Amino acid sequence: MFPLQRGRRLRINESIRSLVRETTLSPSDFMFPMFIAEGENVKVEIPSMPGIYRRSIDLTVEEVKELFALGIRAVNIYVKVSEDLKDNTGKEAWNPNGLMQNTIRAIKATCPEMVVMPDVALDPYSIYGHDGIIKDGDIANDETVEALVKMAVSHAEAGADFVAPSDMMDGRVLRLREGLDAAGFQNVGIMSYSAKYASAFYGPFRDALDSAPKEATIKVPKDKKTYQMDYANRIEAIKEALWDVEEGADMVMVKPGMAYLDIVREVKNTVNVPVTVYHVSGEYAMIKAASERGWLDHDKIMMEQLMCIKRAGASLISTYFAKEAAILLNSK
Ligand code: PBG
Repeated sequence: MFPLQRGRRLRINESIRSLVRETTLSPSDFMFPMFIAEGENVKVEIPSMPGIYRRSIDLTVEEVKELFALGIRAVNIYVKVSEDLKDNTGKEAWNPNGLMQNTIRAIKATCPEMVVMPDVALDPYSIYGHDGIIKDGDIANDETVEALVKMAVSHAEAGADFVAPSDMMDGRVLRLREGLDAAGFQNVGIMSYSAKYASAFYGPFRDALDSAPKEATIKVPKDKKTYQMDYANRIEAIKEALWDVEEGADMVMVKPGMAYLDIVREVKNTVNVPVTVYHVSGEYAMIKAASERGWLDHDKIMMEQLMCIKRAGASLISTYFAKEAAILLNSK
């Protein structure tokens, strides 16, 4: 009689395991974050992110074609603009011929079915490396939101499918929705970074864009803790996600990934829109570094992490591993 139930019967071989597997991964689960540089024929590897490059628009378009052929259906776009275009208003962010707008147009012209989600936040354009306009020693929320609306509308005009606000200003989803609708872009979606934590895992990303908060002659916050969330908090993530859905977000995001899967599951159980998870730069760097030393099996760790993020409730995973994982999945 002992034991009637034997869990191991469902694990006897790979065929049986595949019958009862609860979660699967496919290339269309991934979004690939891409860093764009000025110039032509530029491809510069980011030192803290081996295998990830800043590319000029021409090479970005080539890469996007490859990604599409692999089954990847979405890209997040981040631009590195030159220092002389940065100020405290972020006005380069809505230049109709800016690097972001030109990138969106180029991708949509060559690969129209690739879903393009430009990042909406002022940090690449800010002399202070902050996601908004600095006033009286802090980020001026409402003024920043109005700048983000102009930025998002310019992305939509360039052909973006979704805009992806990553700034964590209050009320921005509502104003973006109103602004996009008023400009005739009812079909441009909003993928909101709803529960974005103030995290040290973003370090390599800030290297990639040279966008870390900087010293200044005026009073400027030294970090992003007055807008990004405190990683000690859980209920606050639910609150932010619910607000964003009420304000019109089509998708919400939790960021970072692995250390925040409890938040992913709770948000997933609370909202009725798809949940995206951003498997961020520092998580990528850790796996690359440990596997370079031979301390971890790169491909196994990569697939385990991606599967666990999906199991936690992600409908979409924004990950620097998108291409490598898609190649691996397609080879099976
Ligand atoms: C900035 C932005 C950041 C990331 C995405 N958008 C950095 C930050 O908030 O400082 C981080 C992504 C990553 O680490 O991979 N708006």
